[in-house]
Amino acid sequence: MAYQTLTVEIEDYVALIRLNRPEALNALNSQLMGELAEATADADRNEKVRCIVLTGSEKAFAAGADIKEMSEKSFVQVTTENIFSAEIDRITSVRKPIIAAVSGYALGGGCELAMACDFIICADTAKFGQPEINLGVIAGIGGTQRLTRFVGKSKSMDMHLTGRFMDAAEAERSGLASRVVPAAKLISETMAIARKIAEKSLIATAAAKEAVNRAYETTLAEGILFERRSFQALFATEDQKEGMNAFLEKREAQFRDR
Ligand code: HXC
Repeated sequence: MAYQTLTVEIEDYVALIRLNRPEALNALNSQLMGELAEATADADRNEKVRCIVLTGSEKAFAAGADIKEMSEKSFVQVTTENIFSAEIDRITSVRKPIIAAVSGYALGGGCELAMACDFIICADTAKFGQPEINLGVIAGIGGTQRLTRFVGKSKSMDMHLTGRFMDAAEAERSGLASRVVPAAKLISETMAIARKIAEKSLIATAAAKEAVNRAYETTLAEGILFERRSFQALFATEDQKEGMNAFLEKREAQFRDR
């Protein structure tokens, strides 16, 4: 499918989705969010895809929601449109793992989009922020909730109330990014990580993703029960037998998603 605001390349069972609105530092407008929701859903359905990488440009993952598109909207419009909520929900309902590869600015909706992915690998040039407060608004696609869960209340309040940016080292230190890599290697390193994930059983990666995400939705006891049941259910798959037999036979497992 041809998109105007992003590109999709599929290689080695990894879909690399690049946001592509260079004139606006990949600001998220309704066309881009619609296309992104479509592209991720498409990758989720595609048998040639087992892991997804979402990235932007060297200068910006995304500098936030498109302020030009938003600025003149009324309360009634933003409420009835419920901007970007359906798109973010579609992206977070993808069952395959999605890695955000962040270089440069990930601000406002851009930071929120990165956090809606499963984990964040960032370049040493990355700058995260929730600067909506400077525009007289607040985060609107999950930032107050997700950032608080990633980095804790104190740092999240600091970010949302002052609008300051967090650099890559602080992002890694505080748990927002899982790894920092040199900017020139961001895509190659993230693709290598994605290829590793793509080699696993698709049923198991989806189960792992679902169980970790459950930690944000429920109590510890319920989450542990959910995990235990998923773990047990995986014994109904051929991939569990293959994975364990391959270990015992000292060979590489060949998962077949069955
Ligand atoms: C629309 C944007 C944009 C944005 C940048 N641009 N961010 N356009 N929406 N969010 C455009 C600029 O207008 C400019 O276009 C071009 O991109 C380059 O940006 P510059 O500002 O010239 O670049 P630079 O000086 O390097 O500064 C980079 C920056 C700055 C620090 C990232 O652009 C910036 O502060 N952007 C806004 C960040 C922000 O406030 N994000 C939160 C948005 S609200 P022209 O045509 O002038 O060359 C949000 C809410 C989410 O995200 C919730 C939604 C429901």
